[in-house]
Amino acid sequence: MVPESSRDDAGVMLGGAYRADSTTQYEAAAIGYPLIEDAVGALPSPDSGDGPVVIADFGAAQGTNSLQPISLALDSLSARELSPPAVVVHTDLPGNDFAGLFDTVDRSTDSYLVDRPDVFPLVAGRSFYERIFPADTLAFGWSSSSLHWLSTAPGPIPDHFFVHQSHDSSSRIAYAARSTSDWTTFLDHRSVELQVGAGVVIVDVLRGNDGLVGSEALFDCLAEALRAALEQGVLSDSEYARMVYPTWFRSVDDLHAPFDPVFTGRTGGQLDLVDLTTTVLADPFGDLLAHNETAEYAAKQTGFLRAFLAPSFASQLDPGRDAAAKARLLERIWAGTRDLIAAHATSVAPAYRLSAVRITRTR
Ligand SMILES: C[S@@+](CC[C@H](N)C(=O)[O-])C[C@H]1O[C@@H](n2cnc3c(N)ncnc32)[C@H](O)[C@@H]1O
Repeated sequence: MVPESSRDDAGVMLGGAYRADSTTQYEAAAIGYPLIEDAVGALPSPDSGDGPVVIADFGAAQGTNSLQPISLALDSLSARELSPPAVVVHTDLPGNDFAGLFDTVDRSTDSYLVDRPDVFPLVAGRSFYERIFPADTLAFGWSSSSLHWLSTAPGPIPDHFFVHQSHDSSSRIAYAARSTSDWTTFLDHRSVELQVGAGVVIVDVLRGNDGLVGSEALFDCLAEALRAALEQGVLSDSEYARMVYPTWFRSVDDLHAPFDPVFTGRTGGQLDLVDLTTTVLADPFGDLLAHNETAEYAAKQTGFLRAFLAPSFASQLDPGRDAAAKARLLERIWAGTRDLIAAHATSVAPAYRLSAVRITRTR
């Protein structure tokens, strides 16, 4: 077994690559937008003399996909005359590309900062499985495509990089248990940080009751490229087992489980799960397929996989390999993945299952 690190930055996304290759996550985030106004609408009116409104963006990466939801939250606050000053705190793991995030937030023409001189962006380099904010300060929280990342990888998976496609029951049990404790930990911290009446909207990947997530065939192209690298002796047995995607895609039941019917945190704060909607996101690159642009289609899908998996995979390779050797090895795996996607393009097209959840602090 690989020893677990207590702080694990393996989930951080590749700087520019994630920014350029996060169209899928951009489209996914939109399913949470209708819940933002409701969350802000439930916020009690502040007393005069209260400090600035505090908004959190949990798991921001480079912020590209946060601009629109944060703008919507600020618009909803203005509509309620709970106008700025506001601080927007983008949180992520300490190794995140925060320079890229400031570049996005400060320079993008779509930034929530445009025409809002009283809004101030800040960052917190701390896991969302820890306390980030003082008690009773958060007016609104947003998180998209982030909460399926576990606090640490519970261990290697012998037969697939993705636990939901593994036949190894001990891996599935270990990852499920980590997901349960991480979800509870996330809720526990937010039950302290949120003001009473304030809410968090979370958009994330979903596992259906049939156990499927909608991207199995796409993920299998990568699994096959990894297996080929193992068989060719490019990857060692132990590296192959360690190359995991340290996530758990929660089902509706997983999401509901800590709410019985409300969630009570260790310090007595209570959260209610007030909204849970599910949907299926059509393949964001489907137009390329429809126009028979198979090579471009395969490149886009591989770019998507690479942007969120490459940092984890690089950290799981033998530490004896230098950075250049790791980069060459991974290049080979991405090239193999791209070729497999191109060869099976019509049958690998994903249909991502997603959930949008709104949670409110009630006490
Ligand atoms: C797929 S990206 C999503 C980024 C963005 N929210 C979006 O919708 O495109 C997942 C982000 O979650 C971050 N992340 C993973 N585990 C985390 C943790 N425990 N605490 C904070 N951020 C985390 C990663 O570093 C990454 O930036």
